[in-house]
Amino acid sequence: MTNVKINSVAKNYGQVSVLSDITTQFPEGSFTSLLGPSGSGKTTLLRIVAGFVTPDSGTVSIGSRNVTNVPVWARNIGMVFQSYALFPHMTVRENVAFGLARRGIKGAEARSQIDRALEMVRLPGFGDRKPKQLSGGQQQRVALARALVIQPSVLLLDEPLSALDRRLRQEMQVELKRIQRETGLTTVFVTHDQEEALALSDQVAILDRGQIVQMGVPTDIYEKPKTRFAAEFLGDTNFLTGTVSARIVTLSDGTAIRLADAEVAPSDGQSVTLAVRPEKIRIVEGVADAEPGLNRLQARVTAVIYAGAALTYVLTASDGTPFKIFAQNTTGTIIPEGAQVTLTWEPKHTILLQDQA
Ligand SMILES: Nc1ncnc2c1ncn2[C@@H]1O[C@H](COP(=O)(O)OP(=O)(O)O)[C@@H](O)[C@H]1O
Ligand SMILES: [Mg+2]
Repeated sequence: MTNVKINSVAKNYGQVSVLSDITTQFPEGSFTSLLGPSGSGKTTLLRIVAGFVTPDSGTVSIGSRNVTNVPVWARNIGMVFQSYALFPHMTVRENVAFGLARRGIKGAEARSQIDRALEMVRLPGFGDRKPKQLSGGQQQRVALARALVIQPSVLLLDEPLSALDRRLRQEMQVELKRIQRETGLTTVFVTHDQEEALALSDQVAILDRGQIVQMGVPTDIYEKPKTRFAAEFLGDTNFLTGTVSARIVTLSDGTAIRLADAEVAPSDGQSVTLAVRPEKIRIVEGVADAEPGLNRLQARVTAVIYAGAALTYVLTASDGTPFKIFAQNTTGTIIPEGAQVTLTWEPKHTILLQDQA
């Protein structure tokens, strides 16, 4: 069993609290992304799992073993950093062999394990090259081979793709996912790229100022953000504020927005913040009736961003709130700036946030 358990972990640097009371689990064989803005504590959390940083309090367990006081080399962890950290004077083979030598694995056994690792990252035949004779993507594959060759029980990746250009990054995302599936390794992946996190992960943890503010499967994280921070950090969102009464939220101009049936409505009279994703909203020109059961909001177009296949409408809602919607260019007709429009969406796409309005 190689699930990773983090229990009440806290870390301060001087007076600064970098992680406060983190309790979470990375299940065996799962791919978890730690997603958050720069400085939110992602690297620190990863380094605590690896053993490079000791928490001030709390424990880290790998499988059934409490490793909080176990040194890095005895944790059996493979780690890949943003900077590939390859030894420039060594060949690819020598770089990959590095971790094996420290474990006393040499000769034919080491050779076959190195070959296997280089095949895994699709670099067989590159063993005699030096890092500078490789592209950025290939260097990162070598770093990955070096992490995999020791047959770790956990793979930790700290923004390994962020130095690559967009095309290479997408290629490596596919490779990473393949390798993770083939090896079944419990993997923790740090990124500040939301799409990368959604595309690769079984679960995503969103960090904000040293705390995990939400964790779940990608669809829940995107469709059901709990806070304004989570909704804004992951994707585009519109926010509305109003007052609740009998599961209806009334905006300042009197527009009534119905909450999803599944939503536990707060008590009447409370101010709340709602979120609606821009792609969930339909737009028609003019003041139109909504189909029964849909939420409806009047707005005015303030700008149209034409991108060929899709359009972004920037709007001002009838209560004065800035709004944004994405529309597929199915009809070829563009609603002009200044037009009065009607927006509709299903109540189930109205997200009730937990923040106080
Ligand atoms: N060794 C250190 N000494 C002092 N402060 C640190 C140290 N490492 C990280 N920090 C601080 O901790 C916070 C979180 O850093 P980090 O974990 O690297 O965040 P992230 O990886 O999410 O960008 C930052 O404010 C950073 O400046
Ligand atoms: Mg970092």
